[in-house]
Amino acid sequence: MKFFILLTLAVTCFYSCAKQNTFDEGDKFVADLLGKMTIEEKVGQMTQLTLSVFMKEGKVQDSLLEKYIVNYGIGSMLNVMGPGPSSVSEWQTLIKRIQDVALSAPNKIPVLYGIDAIHGATYTKNSVLFPHNIGIAASRNIDLTYQSAKATVAEVRSAGIRWNFDPVFGVAREPLWSRFEETFGEDSYLVGEFGTAVIRGYEDEGLKNKTAVASCIKHYLGYSMPAIGKDRTPAYISDIMFHEIFLPPFKKAIETGAKTVMVNSGSINGVPVHASKKLLTGLLKEKLGFKGLVVTDWEDILFLYREHKVAHNNREAVKIAVNAGIDMSMVPEDVSFYTDLVDLVKSGEVSMERINDAVTRILKVKYDVGLFDNAYAEEGAADMFGKPKFDSLAYTLALESITLLKNDTLKSKPVLPIKSNANVLVTGPAANILNTLHGSWSYTWQGEKENLYPERILTIKEAIQDKLGAKNVQFAPVKSFMKTTPAEIKTMQRKAAQADYLILCLGEKSYAEGHGNIDELDLPQSQIAIAKAAYKTGKPVIVVLTQGRPLIVREIVDQAAGIVLAYRPGNRGADAIADILSGSESPSGKLPFTYHKHSGNIVMYDAPKRCEKHYRPQWPFGFGLSYTQFEYDDIKLNTTELSTTGTLEIKVEITNIGNRDSKLGVDLFISDEVARIIPPMKKLRGFQKVFIKSGETKTVEFSITKDDLAFVNDDLQRVTEEGKFIIMLGDKQAEFYYFPDKNSEENAMFKETDTDKII
Ligand code: BGC
Repeated sequence: MKFFILLTLAVTCFYSCAKQNTFDEGDKFVADLLGKMTIEEKVGQMTQLTLSVFMKEGKVQDSLLEKYIVNYGIGSMLNVMGPGPSSVSEWQTLIKRIQDVALSAPNKIPVLYGIDAIHGATYTKNSVLFPHNIGIAASRNIDLTYQSAKATVAEVRSAGIRWNFDPVFGVAREPLWSRFEETFGEDSYLVGEFGTAVIRGYEDEGLKNKTAVASCIKHYLGYSMPAIGKDRTPAYISDIMFHEIFLPPFKKAIETGAKTVMVNSGSINGVPVHASKKLLTGLLKEKLGFKGLVVTDWEDILFLYREHKVAHNNREAVKIAVNAGIDMSMVPEDVSFYTDLVDLVKSGEVSMERINDAVTRILKVKYDVGLFDNAYAEEGAADMFGKPKFDSLAYTLALESITLLKNDTLKSKPVLPIKSNANVLVTGPAANILNTLHGSWSYTWQGEKENLYPERILTIKEAIQDKLGAKNVQFAPVKSFMKTTPAEIKTMQRKAAQADYLILCLGEKSYAEGHGNIDELDLPQSQIAIAKAAYKTGKPVIVVLTQGRPLIVREIVDQAAGIVLAYRPGNRGADAIADILSGSESPSGKLPFTYHKHSGNIVMYDAPKRCEKHYRPQWPFGFGLSYTQFEYDDIKLNTTELSTTGTLEIKVEITNIGNRDSKLGVDLFISDEVARIIPPMKKLRGFQKVFIKSGETKTVEFSITKDDLAFVNDDLQRVTEEGKFIIMLGDKQAEFYYFPDKNSEENAMFKETDTDKII
């Protein structure tokens, strides 16, 4: 018993002590500043307003800057000047005007400006937009992801902005959900690995440096599995699922050093996350030891009484949210939060201690990003913008994300790549439109305005023309994603007569958040009809999909000669598609989600083994074909008996037995054969991207410890149970056993530590 108590104390101390930073210069600076501030100034710091509040007749007004920043002491701002993106110099000028006003106030506290640079600098003219996260996860390439985050930093920070509302840490467990494309897919481990690569890219050069921005991990927590599939609606998540699937990526993000957190607009098991002291203070700040600032999402305090109905009015909503642990409110269109919070503090319903905690966190982020040293865009910052290497990075990432889902053999040859000198007919609603390649947060929130895309970006049709030569490419336009006219179909069928192949571009137009809500997952009927009409021509039809979620395509799969999934591939997506179709590049993307076959059979790849016979997807998680063939040799293990403190070294030799060089995404899956919680069918426990030349053999290695095999049990403990595990790599399998070191001190330690680890 004594041992147990000591151990518990040690473990508790380990967590609280390890998380505590020492009181540094920044803390002292912040404490001194806090000491000089009035209640109103403190509440002002906790208030975030959108830029349109400072505008009249389309222009930012000095008088309004003065009013809100000096009189109300507003601490943070977000969003954009116009209906379209602004240039770097317009941004710099705006930031200068804002900071000039902020620094003219008595306490000289700069404004923290935040922006959504979700897959590149969304709101800056001519910025480079990368594939959305869903494609990035398909690339299985962590290094490219890290580099793309660095490019985003350069383009955001060049404008003088130091806070990015990104990356998204939601695990996509609901394919209908309109923000599916913003996630790194359905697997918790994948989300954690890619998300933290982005955080490192944003922050690891030191936040004061102009090569960094503060990240904002979002949306904490459980946003990505709305029960009715619609954005910002309730989720019902079991405790085990919460700890097994949704929490681990956020925990990893906080350990990586994420500076800020944005809260989920929805609710979990009936409690809006913005109102949950348990999740915001208990879990996030106390147990996970998060020291940064917690910001609401858009209007989410208003949402508490207007939509969720857990408060009667704004005042009550503010009280609930701030007492729950919210540090900053993205109000964002008025000062209702400010007015009510000042009143609540004066009446004692919100304590001064809570306010001081919130403001300390906000000022510390401002200090850490160097705003007190220099609140403006640094000299030469604009030079960081628009480097050619960002564009080539966007190309490489798009290329590595594109996933080949089907490649029929015709006359004993694979249909893809298409033969040289072929004549192709490009058609379908996604063929000649930019927004389908980009999706949400692309120069505008909805990404829908074609005229705002930089001229350099090509549509699929244009890229194919570039690649094959205009004379080899015909085009049959289809205007809408939801409707097809008989004339469009007729033209397509007529032009098909001269073509060797049809490239049929299907999918979705861009949408963001609630604008992308849908009632069924199926590819729209009109697109199914175009595909069927295309098949009637008798020509090989290659379907190219640009879409943010796995639309059900069952009805058109069998007759398609080839199917290429490009997700939302960004600025250089069309070039990458053309290069893959023509064969100058080989595809290497792997699905980061299960591509479902029936909308009534949504089963994830890591569902309990009991669901195994129901896992009948169109294409499974991890699927993706190549133009070459890879052969996996037998898996080699350093031991078949893993101990509590041991490491399992896994090696496999992979040979490219085809006749072209290619990259390959290698997924390591492990299955726990028997466990007291029905074990998942399998779990992704590692992945790598390798380049293997034709004829070459490469060895791919992974290391596993018992922690990597742990699961959350019925007592919400993270445990690894004794027994047999199966490793799966390519088409090869190997087994090993985990034997805990029974009766050893380490084993006892292991159990207690892991209990605590669950948080
Ligand atoms: C979105 C957030 C975004 C915020 C600020 C909200 O509607 O949910 O992801 O960061 O707006 O633009």
